[in-house]
Amino acid sequence: MQNYKDFLAEILIDENVLQARVKELGAEISADYPDSNLLLICILRGGVPFMVDLSRNITSPHMMDFMAVSSYGVGKRESSGMVRFTMDLQTDIHNKDVLLVEDIVDSGHTIASVLELLQVRQPNSLKVCALLDKAERREAVVPIHYRGFNIPNKYVFGYGLDIDDYYRNLPFIGVVDLEKYIPPA
Ligand code: IMP
Ligand code: MG
Repeated sequence: MQNYKDFLAEILIDENVLQARVKELGAEISADYPDSNLLLICILRGGVPFMVDLSRNITSPHMMDFMAVSSYGVGKRESSGMVRFTMDLQTDIHNKDVLLVEDIVDSGHTIASVLELLQVRQPNSLKVCALLDKAERREAVVPIHYRGFNIPNKYVFGYGLDIDDYYRNLPFIGVVDLEKYIPPA
């Protein structure tokens, strides 16, 4: 496995900046959801580090649940617009204040499909919190109620975001130099 330093083009958002912003988002969400009806929903797997840190910065009592989706068709680094649900929630979201927590909104197809599915179950409210917004690539119109950072159209990794399923553990957001990156055999 290649050391990330061999293909790191730049650190886009360092750990301190990232954690400071997560803290701000947590404070904002705590103020907006003062009671205990809040349910954070994490879309596996990229949203995990962000949701865990965000949750620790939300002072209102809340629950967590997880779901998994995968998009199929086209290449590995793009979403096709066709999203398949591979793992459902365990919680009944009816009448809950649902906050969907995502690592990144890119084309927007993933969030659009998930919102459509969840809306049918009649939550009390349904909002989106995305750490990163790559708006230049948007194809589907999706609301982002809480946004960590706007980022340029570059492939990023770390803090949940993967390259071929690795490097999610890194505490910063880095840009990959795809000419230097060697995919695992
Ligand atoms: P969308 O459906 O195109 O908005 O894609 C969303 C999903 O694609 C995200 O949840 C990520 O898993 C993945 N993704 C999009 N851009 C990046 C990136 O720059 N690095 C790593 N994963 C990404
Ligand atoms: Mg993801």
